[in-house]
Amino acid sequence: MKFSYVCMALLLAGSARGTFAAEVSSPDGNIKVNFSVVEGRPTYEMSYKGKPVILPSTLGLELIGSTDLMDKFEEKNVTYSEFDETWQPVWGENKEIRNHYREMFVELAQPPHGRFMNIRFRVYDDGMGLRYEFPQQQYLDYFPVREEHTQFAMAGDHTAWWIAGDYDTQEYDYTESRLSEIRGLMKSAICSNASQTQFSPTGVQTSLQMKTDDGLYINIHEAALVNYSCMHLNLDDKNMVFESWLTPDAQGVKAYVQTPDHTPWRTVMVSDDARDMLASNLILNLNEPCAYEDTSWIKPVKYVGVWWEMIGGGKQWSYTYDLPSVKLDNLDYSKTKCHGEHPANTENVKRYIDFAAEHGFDQVLVEGWNVGWEDWFGKSKDYVFDFVTPYPDFDIDYLNEYAHSKGVRLMMHHETSGSVRNYERHMEAAYNLMDKYGYNAVKSGYVGNMIPRGEHHYGQWLNNHYLYAVTEAAKHKIMVNAHEAVRPTGLCRTYPNLIGNESARGTEYEAFAGNKPSHTTVLPFTRLQGGPMDYTPGIFEMDMKKINPNSAGHVNSTLARQLALYVTMYSPLQMAADIPENYNRFMDAFQFIKDVAVDWDESRYLEAEPGQYIVAARKAKGKDEWYVGCTAGEKGHTSDLKLDFLDKGRKYEAVIYADAKDAHYLDNPQAYTITRKTVTDKSRLKLAAAPGGGYAISIKPLDL
Ligand code: NOJ
Ligand code: CA
Repeated sequence: MKFSYVCMALLLAGSARGTFAAEVSSPDGNIKVNFSVVEGRPTYEMSYKGKPVILPSTLGLELIGSTDLMDKFEEKNVTYSEFDETWQPVWGENKEIRNHYREMFVELAQPPHGRFMNIRFRVYDDGMGLRYEFPQQQYLDYFPVREEHTQFAMAGDHTAWWIAGDYDTQEYDYTESRLSEIRGLMKSAICSNASQTQFSPTGVQTSLQMKTDDGLYINIHEAALVNYSCMHLNLDDKNMVFESWLTPDAQGVKAYVQTPDHTPWRTVMVSDDARDMLASNLILNLNEPCAYEDTSWIKPVKYVGVWWEMIGGGKQWSYTYDLPSVKLDNLDYSKTKCHGEHPANTENVKRYIDFAAEHGFDQVLVEGWNVGWEDWFGKSKDYVFDFVTPYPDFDIDYLNEYAHSKGVRLMMHHETSGSVRNYERHMEAAYNLMDKYGYNAVKSGYVGNMIPRGEHHYGQWLNNHYLYAVTEAAKHKIMVNAHEAVRPTGLCRTYPNLIGNESARGTEYEAFAGNKPSHTTVLPFTRLQGGPMDYTPGIFEMDMKKINPNSAGHVNSTLARQLALYVTMYSPLQMAADIPENYNRFMDAFQFIKDVAVDWDESRYLEAEPGQYIVAARKAKGKDEWYVGCTAGEKGHTSDLKLDFLDKGRKYEAVIYADAKDAHYLDNPQAYTITRKTVTDKSRLKLAAAPGGGYAISIKPLDL
């Protein structure tokens, strides 16, 4: 329902300086956004409960080969409206989402050049989005963008949880620092990743979480990134002003726009309660409704996989990995013997299928099933994988039949090696192969430098590719979980077969270098704002030497915290990532992973502080069962939980999987206790999480 409301325009409230011509506030009145044209430049500011969030900041775009859309603007018209509707996501943290905002639509003209540009603001109770709109017009039809200059002027030297600006990876640990310290810390923030394409000593990625000295939580991100380049933020650290910095293409062009068109939303979330940042649906709400009529084939997935054996165990994706110079085109695999340990073989995959069937998992991911791996490593040529030819020791026909006979599916794996034209050439055949054998989900990946060379993972061309892979998959009723793709911006609302993404530093890094113990207390504030993450939790053996004597890795988490991540890291796609042998050693704890839901009716954030702790409670879809998870940073955390979300008067059994008193992520991570308690909505639970620890609780009714 959309209706006009009276009449902010008449108030012309203006800012303290009296320069602002238009104002819109959030439905609850706490957030105010003002707009004006100041000396020809579009300018806005934003406040929350009277405190400045964004100081006056200018808007505009610099173009290539034609006059910029930066200045000489005049305001033509401002229209206000309000929108309030509730929608049901196909899967999600809640079964219903309210989309309630007030809108201010500003129409601008650039008279000397006969051009028009509009700016649309939507203001919610927990933040706002703005975007540029370019109507179809005579003197602005097709234009390359040199840079977008959207400013976000901060009101102080805030604390931020940031990762370095990079056009190709987000796989970094977060650094917590003042904005003024970013420049000095940049070197240590990037050193862990060789592929970094650094563009500025003060460049950071979104979603960027900040906290002000007077207790405001501010988050900057973007929503609905479609046919445009991903936005980074470059900080002027003298004045504490962020400015957008788009990802370039191989020619240095930042975006190509053809009118009528618009940019993605630039979003600023704000609250004085950290939990509101986690509970916010602003990014989803700024995306378009579901584009598919039939979504009955889209189903949340809990899976295991032939994966950690390679990532953590040092085994091989490639069947012929130690042959020095193999050419895919003329290698006869049927005459080649397997070199080294290749876990994607029929017998081993069968073992995983049995394990999945016994413990109620939906799918088994198998990586390294297809030819091409030996051709990729170290070569980066553009024709690598064909996505349809299995290695000779992987019996695709038999294994799919065997899996289906046990009520399990195999999950497809497409590592593109960044060779995107090659992937697009083979995509239809690859999806057809999946249809033929009954796969309905693919984990894809974009490791390495992009081919065509010079293109970046987060550029417009690649962003269009990731979405193309998703919409083509939908034609085959296939769900997509893309790793190393651009970080999500809420597109899963429109295309819910985008069931997950990695696009951040996942559990795989625990096997390589370790993640900071605080990592999972930051990700839900940042990376998860745009959509679910395939974080691949559930590692029970923290000493990686136990499965690979050559490994230097250590998983910086307690075992109890690994359970909690199924609740705190929201995703409709969850992997139990460890090898079956490690689960068999701790079957009592594994029970939580078996029980926990992957789709929810309701979610509540009970306690939260970025970098320190997150406690979430979620009610399973269609069931009166709750699951609670706590993840804690270096200092651990003590909780005092009220279970007042339970049905009044009903008795439940709570099974509490907690860190033992002497647990510690470094030297005693596997020390946990399991306690059973009868609880009601009146119960309070005092629980302690060890350093790098956590707890997980399942709560089921006793009176079924
Ligand atoms: C990186 C992905 O994140 C990981 O999960 C996958 O196993 C490798 N690429 C190989 O595709
Ligand atoms: Ca990755």
